[in-house]
Amino acid sequence: MTARVIAVVNQKGGAGKSTLAMLLAGSLADAGDRVLVADADPQNTALRWAQTGSGFPADVEDLSGEEGKLHKHLRKRLDDYDYIVIDSPPHASAPVTESALRLAQLALVPVIPSPPDLWASLRTREAITRARRKNPTLAARIVVNQAQLNTLLAQEVLALLPEFGIPLLAAQLKSRTAYRQAAVLGTTVRALGARAAIASLEVEALRREVMTLLA
Ligand SMILES: Nc1ncnc2c1ncn2[C@@H]1O[C@H](COP(=O)(O)OP(=O)(O)O)[C@@H](O)[C@H]1O
Ligand SMILES: [Mg+2]
Repeated sequence: MTARVIAVVNQKGGAGKSTLAMLLAGSLADAGDRVLVADADPQNTALRWAQTGSGFPADVEDLSGEEGKLHKHLRKRLDDYDYIVIDSPPHASAPVTESALRLAQLALVPVIPSPPDLWASLRTREAITRARRKNPTLAARIVVNQAQLNTLLAQEVLALLPEFGIPLLAAQLKSRTAYRQAAVLGTTVRALGARAAIASLEVEALRREVMTLLA
């Protein structure tokens, strides 16, 4: 099978790109798929996450130096993996992000439901629209991250999201300690065991929805 490629992108730093990329990649790998995380952000959050623990189940490589040639590099490796997840820097129009969006079948845009985060994400939507000139079948979904749905403000912000022009993934990531713990311990949520059972279910739902979109 040729790898399906997912680019996790958002102009906004701290939106949850690396968290989403690593949770998704870890979940896919825990389920038995061959997964590469292409860390395209020179800050190397994904690489550090994988190097912290022992035995993160996906391969994680620093490919930030590939810059605008990332898609060419990854094309040569499509047969080695079932999924390639690209974690990108907080620059929607950086050459490496454009390169990622050129190869990907799916762009995932994690968005924290607050107005400043949404405004900053408009750049990301432009980058996806631009990428479709060369990659017309590129699909895109917003992933609501750090949702606190019990607050009225969050509900109002979520109501704005359809106007954003990118459909929402039904699965969301709530704000959970388990996700920070997974990063601190360099592992997946499944490896955290019973204490992260609800987080595991949440990530599992996200993995299934993403797999369906790419099937
Ligand atoms: N759903 C979440 N629950 C708890 N903490 C989160 C969640 N998403 C992100 N974080 C934390 O927020 C910070 C920024 O997330 P990160 O994934 O590094 O964002 P980005 O890669 O977009 O800069 C990190 O400290 C991360 O652990
Ligand atoms: Mg990051």
